[in-house]
Amino acid sequence: MLPFKSILKFDKNSAEAVYKQIASQLVLLIQKGILMPGMQLPSTRVLAADLGLHRKTIMAAYNALIAEDWIVSHERKEYRVSTLLPIIKPRSYAGQARTNYTAEAPFLFNEPQVRTLAVLSGKHKLIVDDGFPETDIFPVERIAEEYKKLLTHHTLKKASSTWSIGGSKFFKDELAAFLNDTRGLNIEPENLIVTRGAQMAIYLAASLLIKPGDKVLVTSPNYFLADAIFTQLGAQLIKVPVDGEGADVDAIESALINNSIKLLYIIPHHHHPTTVTMSSVRRVKLLRLIKDHQLSVIEDDYDYDFQYQHSPYLPLASGDHNGNVIYIGSLTKVLGANFRLGYMISGVDFLNGALKLKSLIDLRCDVLMESTIASLMQSGEFSRFIKKANKLYNHRCGFTANLLSNELPHLLEFVKPQGGMALWLKFKQEHSLAGILNKASSLGLKFGGSTYLKKHNLGYEALRFGFASIDENNIEFAVDVLKRTL
Ligand SMILES: Cc1ncc(COP(=O)(O)O)c(C=O)c1O
Repeated sequence: MLPFKSILKFDKNSAEAVYKQIASQLVLLIQKGILMPGMQLPSTRVLAADLGLHRKTIMAAYNALIAEDWIVSHERKEYRVSTLLPIIKPRSYAGQARTNYTAEAPFLFNEPQVRTLAVLSGKHKLIVDDGFPETDIFPVERIAEEYKKLLTHHTLKKASSTWSIGGSKFFKDELAAFLNDTRGLNIEPENLIVTRGAQMAIYLAASLLIKPGDKVLVTSPNYFLADAIFTQLGAQLIKVPVDGEGADVDAIESALINNSIKLLYIIPHHHHPTTVTMSSVRRVKLLRLIKDHQLSVIEDDYDYDFQYQHSPYLPLASGDHNGNVIYIGSLTKVLGANFRLGYMISGVDFLNGALKLKSLIDLRCDVLMESTIASLMQSGEFSRFIKKANKLYNHRCGFTANLLSNELPHLLEFVKPQGGMALWLKFKQEHSLAGILNKASSLGLKFGGSTYLKKHNLGYEALRFGFASIDENNIEFAVDVLKRTL
């Protein structure tokens, strides 16, 4: 018999139950071949006396091992290491191990028309992003506390017995109330479905609307991953310009007169990439056009929650549009890119169609995270967190804008946005942005957000400078590096 007393160690003060500690060590002894298949183990009474533990503790350990097929018991009198250990031994059919997967697939497949998203490595001192939130102010403890409350066998069983493809009732109730309060909407929970981020919602809505050859109105430039969806679905993009007041609504009107337009995709708040907020005059005119032309619209309001003026503009969806506006938003700009919570608002039959489509690629929502956030919404903490973040981002926006105008007026120009998390920096003709990016990279600064070079035919070169996630020291560092690239 092995000297179990000196081999098996346990800590009665550990968070892990003693029987589990004993069981895991016995598994290790079996895996290492120290306890061989068929070998007899000491009786529960003997091992308990040896280790100075209660016999029930050893029984619990043995029972756990029996449940996992590591050991077998003969009428609970004799315990032996199983001769059929639960270890998976892969067998090769070909006789020798080889990899089947090389860089190139042996079959043809439909390559999506989407540019590969850059992998951001950690080799730079600073990465300036596209406009993501500050993770340092994230209420980590409260989220963990609420999430932990949900991690019970009962909740897991209950959650796994429902489909909830479009979101849990608790979250939808709280989210609908939050959106009605903050955006002047007037919706019921059945008017919304939950998606994994706004991106999925845009894809679902567009897929339900677009057939190959359909014409879709977009701005130029536009959020490139929305354009990629429409192109992937076979749409023809009709482009309208964006100026200091947002999308050119007169150009939208003439496009509507001259073409049969299936869909308008628009970002009225902090347009991506240019950050411009559409003026109220244009919003009123656009709402009239939407009604007159019965125009289907995707309103992408990805970062509505961050507006720096005292009386923020409400979304088009809160105006009079006869149900033509499909309103899409995201919590990823509040919570951070790691939390994939977005939503789509529309009429019930359209949402049912979206749910059918969603069920082909995603059978459930992240119900535990939904409930966690719903609890924070219910207690008011979610809104207070947005207020706190808004204040910080407003400050960082001003700080970055001041620094850039003081330090780099000869290199670039921009208009300070009315909200959001990024500045749209347009570089003066005489400077090559590609050259600046290369030099900045060698000095430890990477621009990870949307960048528009000459080849994109915009007539100027520009990039998004996400200020929300970086502190003042790092903003200073970024501006200093830009200065040193000259
Ligand atoms: C304009 C715009 N719409 C939609 C999205 C997608 O948001 P989400 O992360 O919620 O999928 C983004 C992401 O940055 C965006 O910039």
